[in-house]
Amino acid sequence: MSNLTSSPAWLALATHQREIASQHMSDLFAADSGRIQRCAIDLDGLFLDYSKHRITAETHGLLLALAQQADVPVWITRLFSGDKVNNTEARPALHMALRSDAALFPAAPGRDVMPAVREARGRMLAFATALREGGVAGVNGKAIRNVVNLGVGGSDLGPRMAARALRAFAHPDMRLRFVANADPADLDAALQGLDPAETLFIVASKTFTTVETMSNAHRARAWLTAALGDSPRVSSHFAAVTTATDKAGAFGIAPERLFPMWDWVGGRYSLWSSVGLPIAIAAGTQAFEALLAGGRAMDDHFRAAPLDRNMPVTMALLSVWYSAFFGAETSAILPYSEDLRELPTYLQQLQMESNGKRVNRNGIGVDYPTSPVLWGTAGSVSQHSFHQLLLQGTHLVPVDFIVPIHAAVSGAGEVEAQHTLVANALAQGAALMTGAAATDPHRSSPGNKPSSTLLMNRLTPRTLGMLIALYEHKVFVEGVLLDINPFDQWGVELGKNLAKAIQNGEPGALDPSTRALMARIAKSRG
Ligand code: F6P
Repeated sequence: MSNLTSSPAWLALATHQREIASQHMSDLFAADSGRIQRCAIDLDGLFLDYSKHRITAETHGLLLALAQQADVPVWITRLFSGDKVNNTEARPALHMALRSDAALFPAAPGRDVMPAVREARGRMLAFATALREGGVAGVNGKAIRNVVNLGVGGSDLGPRMAARALRAFAHPDMRLRFVANADPADLDAALQGLDPAETLFIVASKTFTTVETMSNAHRARAWLTAALGDSPRVSSHFAAVTTATDKAGAFGIAPERLFPMWDWVGGRYSLWSSVGLPIAIAAGTQAFEALLAGGRAMDDHFRAAPLDRNMPVTMALLSVWYSAFFGAETSAILPYSEDLRELPTYLQQLQMESNGKRVNRNGIGVDYPTSPVLWGTAGSVSQHSFHQLLLQGTHLVPVDFIVPIHAAVSGAGEVEAQHTLVANALAQGAALMTGAAATDPHRSSPGNKPSSTLLMNRLTPRTLGMLIALYEHKVFVEGVLLDINPFDQWGVELGKNLAKAIQNGEPGALDPSTRALMARIAKSRG
C-alpha cells in the first residue's frame, strides 16, 4: 500500500464509504434540514449547490481531513508564491499572473513576472483593438476582417471555447475560425469563403514545433501566396503566439506581430495570455479584461476561503470521493448553454492532461485511481443521447450541471425558451437524485446519482473567467490530494515521436502490427 492509501485520512474515508454506501440521498435530505444551506457556496455571481451528493456532515469532515493531511493550504501558498510546483520540469505554474492586477506577482523577491505580462497584454490588446477597428491591412491594403487561429491543444481549446462562450459579445464584422487538426480538411473547410486579402492567421504554438500547427501554418502560407503572390509582405497576414520567437521569426513573422508565452504557463492554462488573442479580437478589450477579472476573483477566493467554504477545494474533494472510494471511472460536464458547448472538450484537456498520471510526484506507481475520464456535451440535447445511461445504467457518473439562469442576449421570445432549458437542467438533477419507484423494473429508476449544480445569473465574460479558474484550481487541488504533478504531460510525447518515425518511413522501432499497417498504406499509395 502507498503512503496515501495507508494514511489515516484515506483509511477513515474507506471505512466511512462502506458505512454510507447504501444510504439514499433522499433519506439524507429528510434527516437533515440544514443540508441545502450547508452544501452550497455562493460566490459573487457563481453559486455551487453540492447538496445532491452521497455525503453526510461526517463525510465532509473526513474529506476535509484528507485535504489537511495533503497540506492543501501549503500547496495553495506554494502555487501562488511561484514555487516549482511542476517538479518534473522544475518550473513554477504561474498562469494566475496572466490575470493578475498586482504590482508584483508572485510576491517573492526576484520572481516577479508582471512587467513582462503587462507589456505582452498591452501589445496584444492594442493589436486586437486595431484589428477590430479595421486598422490592420494586408498586402494589398485591404483591412483584415477574417482571423484564423492555427493551434492545437492548449493553443486552441481555450480560445475556441471562450470565443464561442462570448459570441453574444462578438464584433459583427470580424469572422473568427479555429483550425487544429492535422487533417487538411480542417483548414480547407475554415478557408471556405474567405478572401485571402482580408485574412490573418494567428500561429499559436508555445513550442512552434507542433506538427499539426506547423503543417497548417505552411499550408496557410501557400494559400496566401497562391492568391496574393510570393512576397515577403505576405508576413503581414500572420501573427504568432509562442515562447520560440526565434523559430517564429524564421517562419517569417514580423517582430511586432510576435506575442510571447513563457515556460511557466502550461498550454492548457494559457488562454489568459496572448493565446487569448482570438478572444480579444472577437469580444473586445473590455470583455477580455472582464474575463481576467473573473479569473482573478476566483484566485482571491481560492487563496482566502477556508477549506470548508472553498469552491475549487470542495469540487476536488468530491471528485476524489467518487473516483477513489466509489470506483466512479468517469464524470460528466453538462453545460445547459449552447454558448458553453465547447466547455467539456476544453475541460477534457485541462483535467485529463493534468491528472491522467500513473506515478506520484516522486515517480512511484500509484495504487489508487487518478483522474476520472471526463466527458460531456451541452444539455438539453444530451438528454436524448446518453442520459438514459446516467439515469438507469450501471455506472456511477457524477455530473456537473452548469446553468446560466438568463440567456446572454434575451428578447421577449427567448425568455420562455430559456425557462424551458433551465427547467430541463433542474429536472435532470432531480431525476438523478430522487429516481422513481415502479413495479415494472424497466420503468424504475434507482436515483441516488450524484450531481453538482453551478448556477450563474448570466454567462458574462466575468462569470466565464470565474468558471474557468474554478476548474483550473479544482484540477490543481485534485493533483495535490492524489500526490501527482498536474503540470506536466510526458505521456503525449511518445505518440509525437512515433508519428515522426512513421512519417519518415522508419519502421525499425515499431511493432509488427504497426509495420504491417504501414506496408498496407504504402501499397495503397502506390
Ligand atoms: O498535446 C500536448 C501538448 O503539448 C499540449 O500540452 C499543448 O497544449 C499542445 O500540445 C500544443 O502545444 P504547442 O502550443 O507547443 O503547439
